[in-house]
Amino acid sequence: CGIVGYVGDNKSVQVLMGGLRRLEYRGYDSAGIAVIDGEGTLNTAKRAGKLAVLAAELKANPINNGNTGIGHTRWATHGAPNDLNAHPHLGDNGKLALIHNGIIENFSVLKDELLAEGFTFESETDTEVAAILLGREYQRVGDLGDAFRAVVSRLDGAFTLLAVHQDQPGIVVGARRNSPLVIGLGDGENFLGSDVAAFVEYTRRAVAIGQDQIVTITPDLVTVTDFAGNAVEVEEFDIAWDASASEKGGWSSFMAKEVSEQPDAVRNTLRGRIHEGQAVVPELTEFGDDVLAGIRRIVVVACGTAANAGYVAKYAIEKWTRVPVDIELSHEFRYRDPVLNAETLVISISQSGETMDTLMAVKFARESGAKAISICNTQGATIPRESDAVIYTHAGPEVAVASTKGFTAQIAALYLFGLHLARVRGSLSEAECAVQIAELQAIPDKLATTLLQESTVHELATWMADTRAVLFLGRHVGFPIALEGALKLKELAYIHAEGFAAGELKHGPIALIEPGQPVFVVVPSPRGSAHLHPKVVSNIQEIRARGARIIAIAEEGDVAVLPFADTVIRIPLAAPLFEPLLAVVPLQIFAMELATVKGLDVDQPRNLAKSVTVE
Ligand code: G6P
Repeated sequence: CGIVGYVGDNKSVQVLMGGLRRLEYRGYDSAGIAVIDGEGTLNTAKRAGKLAVLAAELKANPINNGNTGIGHTRWATHGAPNDLNAHPHLGDNGKLALIHNGIIENFSVLKDELLAEGFTFESETDTEVAAILLGREYQRVGDLGDAFRAVVSRLDGAFTLLAVHQDQPGIVVGARRNSPLVIGLGDGENFLGSDVAAFVEYTRRAVAIGQDQIVTITPDLVTVTDFAGNAVEVEEFDIAWDASASEKGGWSSFMAKEVSEQPDAVRNTLRGRIHEGQAVVPELTEFGDDVLAGIRRIVVVACGTAANAGYVAKYAIEKWTRVPVDIELSHEFRYRDPVLNAETLVISISQSGETMDTLMAVKFARESGAKAISICNTQGATIPRESDAVIYTHAGPEVAVASTKGFTAQIAALYLFGLHLARVRGSLSEAECAVQIAELQAIPDKLATTLLQESTVHELATWMADTRAVLFLGRHVGFPIALEGALKLKELAYIHAEGFAAGELKHGPIALIEPGQPVFVVVPSPRGSAHLHPKVVSNIQEIRARGARIIAIAEEGDVAVLPFADTVIRIPLAAPLFEPLLAVVPLQIFAMELATVKGLDVDQPRNLAKSVTVE
């Protein structure tokens, strides 16, 4: 879910709606706002559906503007996405409004308690329970901050809560436990948001709030306490990008824009981290090169696309550092009693830095004595704050739900990590490191060349508009790219898609091949992977003989694939470990184009949210 809060001028409705527009990628099942107007009356508007539905409602039935308000865009957990379940929820006889991101796990116990006292509920949400509890407490103590402090201790689970009360205009109070919340510092106005995108239009000064803290904002004052009410020191940071970076500009979709931004995403991620041909990542040096030298095992935890970036990097990191690397889906890792100790380094990968499964895995890892480094694209996010060190990818804000530039930037950051570690451990010579660094530095320009393949991919999507299933094959580093190609297609075009290791084909998946079945094959380089190339070409022949329609992603000049492929998409020459950064691009474009041909919303696919802040 996305959350925004505002106190300042008489423009709450604009600030909240603008903030929600930028946060909509976090959830788009329903949206709502609550504003205290100049008369001291609380007005709310909420609607199921995308933000546009709420905007139309506000146009038809405007609510009074005011200087205090909160807004919410929802990704449903408890209760269907309908008008009643949309936030805000009301307490204290309609005088208090509350919005929530996360899950209150003990809500049914609390609800029973409130029902027994005679309170009634309008929705099926866990949030309304918190609203009514808070209202009851406000009645007792007469102050929103104090009411919050009393209520949060009764809530189990993860939450960010923001509330306003019409008897206390000019104040928004928020609390966070495990769900994100950031403060925006303005001049005579202050903001709260799930991330900085909520308010970057108005200020680039921000403060991240820690776990289990409560924040109160007025137009001129920001106070942060712990749940017990003790004042907490906070640290301000500057937002590194401006509002225009999260605008669509002239692009047809955010995804189209973000796919095309990949050369810069990688370039910016490398910037400042390469010194005289060697990877020198300042964040890692600060973390402790001596600690890195003692690492015996690396475990990568991540979900979705970020996990696929981890799978890609495993090949390179193991090869360069000789440290074993395991990839674990965050939600599986934590619950199976993994073997961890002080010589284990856990690397979390998360574009948003908020994915709850990954956050919990990081916390668990540190509690178990492991060191934790995060790869993250979002300043002030929770996972970096919970880690021992962070390597930020500098891909710029990623708005489309399906990750693209986030993915390539993650691989670039992981490669920098691998080469830094190889240098520190002496597992590669300086000269060998320099060769890899040169390959990495060449990637942005090669990405730009790869993007020129767009029209071939577009044609492909047009003839495949009615396709019901697509298979993806890859080998070695091409295997995780096959997984990522399939994931993109599922997310965007709602087509059944599967990625396989090409060598695994004969052990089962080949039974799926029937005449006309489209199969994308990521073909290894005949130069760099001379031992694997003929094997994959044989795989192509095997499925081709059974009627598959082959789309080969192959490097320039690879003529061996020509007789067996229906379509060949070319990528520039690169050393084998670097090919995935290029091969993924046509697959991203394919998924986007196919979704577009099918008339689907590529930025906001159904049922998904960009940062999943529930377990
Ligand atoms: C969600 C998104 C995926 C994304 C995953 C991990 O499931 O729909 O596209 O890959 O979260 O997100 P993260 O922010 O942790 O990289």
